[in-house]
Amino acid sequence: MNDANDLLSLCKRRGFIWPSFEMYGGVAGMFDYGPLGCVLKNNIVEVWRAIYKGREGFVEIDSETVNPREVFKASGHVDGFADLMTYCRACGSPFRADHLVKDHYENPDVLTPAELDESFARFGVTCPECGGQLGPVEEFNLMFKTNIGPGSDRVGYLRPETAQGIFVNFPNLYRYNREKMPLGVIQTGRGYRNEIAPRQGMIRMREFNMMEVELFVDPDDKDWPGFPGIEGEELVLVPNTGEETLTMTVGRAVEEGIIANRVLAYFIHTTKQLLVRLGVDPARLRFRQHLPDEMAHYAADCWDAEVLLSYGWTEITGIADRGCWDLSRHAQFSGTDLTHFRRFDEPREVETERVRARHKALGPAFKGRAKAVAAALEAVSPSEVRDGRLTVIADGEETVLTDEYFEVVKVTEKAAGERVVPHVIEPSHGLDRIFYSVLEHAYAHDAEKDYTVLRLRPEVAPVKLGVFPLMERDGLDDLARRIYGEVHDHRVEAYYDGSGTIGRRYARMDEIGTPWCVTVDYASVEDGPDRGTVTIRDRDTTEQRRIRIEDVRPVVEGLLEGRLDFASL
Ligand code: GLY
Repeated sequence: MNDANDLLSLCKRRGFIWPSFEMYGGVAGMFDYGPLGCVLKNNIVEVWRAIYKGREGFVEIDSETVNPREVFKASGHVDGFADLMTYCRACGSPFRADHLVKDHYENPDVLTPAELDESFARFGVTCPECGGQLGPVEEFNLMFKTNIGPGSDRVGYLRPETAQGIFVNFPNLYRYNREKMPLGVIQTGRGYRNEIAPRQGMIRMREFNMMEVELFVDPDDKDWPGFPGIEGEELVLVPNTGEETLTMTVGRAVEEGIIANRVLAYFIHTTKQLLVRLGVDPARLRFRQHLPDEMAHYAADCWDAEVLLSYGWTEITGIADRGCWDLSRHAQFSGTDLTHFRRFDEPREVETERVRARHKALGPAFKGRAKAVAAALEAVSPSEVRDGRLTVIADGEETVLTDEYFEVVKVTEKAAGERVVPHVIEPSHGLDRIFYSVLEHAYAHDAEKDYTVLRLRPEVAPVKLGVFPLMERDGLDDLARRIYGEVHDHRVEAYYDGSGTIGRRYARMDEIGTPWCVTVDYASVEDGPDRGTVTIRDRDTTEQRRIRIEDVRPVVEGLLEGRLDFASL
């Protein structure tokens, strides 16, 4: 068995994750989080939240998961969010076409349908299930489609990314942020992709959890105030220019144009900080730049955080520069102004176009309404002229005017600023993939002793403290239960275990990654120098210390917050 199978079976046995709907045969690519998994997942979210919401200018929202078609028509997902697939002509099994030629190409996911058809013929690729002939390669849109309300008039989709909920709320968010840039918005929640062939456990799920950050910035100011503080930090980079893997500082990567701008580089580094803090092994983490034809339809540049798992290098976070794609498209499709007013340091003379009323023509035609029509005309933007006509509302009445009644003139005006479409930098984290990576990098199995330890970082470990009575009698159990009661709450989860040998109980806690255990023994209750004390054991070193019972909670808190070090207890 490989690590992934061992780990998935541990996860199932101990209540981290369970395949969904098992009693009905299960559905590929769907998992439920059990009690321990739920706490671990929430702990990961809390670290992400602390890193982003701990900064000025970042807010969190929670938007709808079912969106009307218009949203994804504008975002490009209705037309461009598809994988290429083929069916076996004999047994009907569906396959992702690029997966069938992965041994022949480094990047099969950039091949066109015609190139894939041609490579099936060239390499003699047949159905992996029955050896039958494969049908033509076709596009399959990955979004789950539904109807909003009865009937089929209002088509909706389950969101394939949480990001669009942020973009369509841009006017609300911009107002909330008092019309300032940069503006950071985070959102965590479910995304849905109807994957053709989900595989690799939790890596490709049909319903998945995301932690997304959309950072709106001035398009001409892709600097970041915290950049000087991190420019000396190292990153492992795989640029799309064909070079080998490079280890270099963030500062040099920007200077040499490997990472396009400082804000993108800053958030690549923030992603590294987040992943390492969660327990990803830095020696098994790299950032790979997408090839130009691999990039999502909305991305101007994109770097994936990839971790080395038993499945190979695997993307767990994408950090994209989405440019002005999303806001421009939603402005165009909805007719809403999604610009930022960039103030100049000093008012400037700018040349612009204005609508001017032709008063001589308006007077005779509109008589008493002429003044109001002229005012309404001069209030609209020249961009609203359609086929030489403008529609205005004057005195509550809609009036269509030909250019006999107005002209568009160039004028020079003093302006306090100008309107620009913000750009978006997006660190988008696959929460389930991070969850799995944290577990796999923490997993240590000693085959000789058949002993498993999950070396989870205490901050994310679901149970922080095991509490054991040496024997479940003579008052040791009562004291252990009292200590458990004093330590356990929703933040510091403790686990009382009184059954089996102490060795067995340590093993059970090591297997789920509990960093510390305390044991109440006879010395804790009998007269003698150790009365009123318990042993505390460290998972990673297996060292033990004696501490006073009233110190258990403060010691655990001190260890968790990094104020105390086990070795110096
Ligand atoms: N929002 C990024 C993604 O959908 O992958």
